[in-house]
Amino acid sequence: MPADMPIFVPAFAKINLTLAVLGRRSDGYHELASVMQTVSLYDTLRIAPRAEGALTCATDLPELDIPDNLALRAAHLAQATTTTLIGADIELHKEIPVQAGLGGGSSDAAAVLAALNALWGLRLPTARLEQVSATLGSDVPFFVRGGTALVSGRGERVHALPDAEALWFVLVQPPVRVATRAAFQALAPADVAASDPHTPAIVAAIRRGQPLPLDQLANTLELPVLRSYPVVARTRALLLAAGAPQARVSGSGPTLYAPFRTLAEAAALLARVRQEGMLARLCRSVSRLEVMHSRSLAPIAPPRAG
Ligand code: C5P
Repeated sequence: MPADMPIFVPAFAKINLTLAVLGRRSDGYHELASVMQTVSLYDTLRIAPRAEGALTCATDLPELDIPDNLALRAAHLAQATTTTLIGADIELHKEIPVQAGLGGGSSDAAAVLAALNALWGLRLPTARLEQVSATLGSDVPFFVRGGTALVSGRGERVHALPDAEALWFVLVQPPVRVATRAAFQALAPADVAASDPHTPAIVAAIRRGQPLPLDQLANTLELPVLRSYPVVARTRALLLAAGAPQARVSGSGPTLYAPFRTLAEAAALLARVRQEGMLARLCRSVSRLEVMHSRSLAPIAPPRAG
């Protein structure tokens, strides 16, 4: 593939299998422990290198046509980190809802960093990409590798885990947006547990290669989000009444997810919640290997003749 050919790169959404808020820090952020998982809902980036150093980013969501769009900021960061003279024209097609708890903006940023690293031949190690990407947002380092990971600190410390059990997820979108900051601000002292049994239980199952204990899925931010946004609480109640065995808020919400082991069960729930008028979609776990492959620019060997 010629070096100046445009490429398409997916930027996968995430869900939080667990998210424990462990306390407030002196820098205003909160100390977290969370198991995050990439899923098959994705934005699409088209990235075309250009000889002179200019950077542009066009999107199909007008509200993101702004200079501090995270994808564009990631491209500037890649330039600043390496003093490369190459530029890029980026197009961003949004599928992941914004301010939904699915990490869309963070994933776009990480995908741009990883793709430009390959496209521009920067050769920055993955650990360095994770490190520099933390300046763009707490969630961004996770998306550099994706898959299943335990994140801690304010979210920027990423410990890759073996891929968790592959699951189907029904994602349901309550008709409201939640700013991450607002969800953290709405936390009451009583919401913050002194200890978090859920994350270690989920991590232990993942490390042993066992099925996920779905009754251990948990999210501290669910409490303030359900209190502050009654429509999210109503949507969750409808989801459970429609037969979802579990329904959790992802991140700072409002997206709810219900996990399933079989497509038949997931598809049946999807049909029922759509009948109730909810905006819902089906997705699946996406492994780390799949995320890394999606950004690998190594030429794919052509099929052998004969
Ligand atoms: O890091 P990011 O810009 O994504 O965070 C958005 C906001 O969410 C922060 O300004 C902060 O108010 C809140 N936050 C927090 N604790 C975290 C992560 C985010 O309080 N660990």
